Amino acid sequence: MTAFSTWAIVVAAGSGERLGADRPKAFVAFRGGSLVAASLAVLDDHDGIDGIVVAVPEGYETAMSLIADDLAATKIATAVAGGPSRGESVANAVACLPAGVDFVLVHDAARPLLTPSLIDRVLGGLASGADGVVPALAITDSVKRLAADGSVAETLDRSTLRTVQTPQGFVVERLRAAIAAAGDALGAATDCASLVEASGGRVVCVEGDEANIKVTTRADLARAESVAP
Ligand code: C5P
Repeated sequence: MTAFSTWAIVVAAGSGERLGADRPKAFVAFRGGSLVAASLAVLDDHDGIDGIVVAVPEGYETAMSLIADDLAATKIATAVAGGPSRGESVANAVACLPAGVDFVLVHDAARPLLTPSLIDRVLGGLASGADGVVPALAITDSVKRLAADGSVAETLDRSTLRTVQTPQGFVVERLRAAIAAAGDALGAATDCASLVEASGGRVVCVEGDEANIKVTTRADLARAESVAP
């Protein structure tokens, strides 16, 4: 029994053109199921998650209920049609959250190697009072900012930089307000935390997971398949 009500949103409505598959990326085969099924199973099993909303490509609502049946998932409440951008897909899913939900984790279906311990870390960050929590990784390469002509303008201090993953956790009302305030920025946002940051929210980092890769290309898919389950 958790003190707070926490739901998860899985965004699975992208086309995934860079994968070159015959179907939307989230529905591509992965370990005997599909990419989206892999993270849904982990979220559905996690005691800290009370319900799940999935954003799917229009027309894939029935495919999603078949996946939920296959998983014997008990927490998937809604499959909603996504929008033309990730941000709009998140907005459509947030609109389906029931009243009384305190926290929401937003996860990309394109990251199938989600683990319960990463969910625990994000939930821990939320419990400590942040508006938003992102799993972050330190950068080991040097990072350059380019000038308009493509030459190097400067070398950034990598010790202050992080790459971030999903699931990202939020106080639901903070995310709702950030989406409402975003305007055109909603369609351009590459993650939800950037919207919460822009609306003045306090976003903190927890340790990410090197294995929690995002599948974009065929090579990523092969790499994800090769990680021991
Ligand atoms: O395209 P990309 O891999 O960056 O998308 C990240 C996640 O956002 C994916 O899981 C994808 O399915 C989802 N997405 C979405 N709706 C869109 C675009 C992307 O749900 N219109």
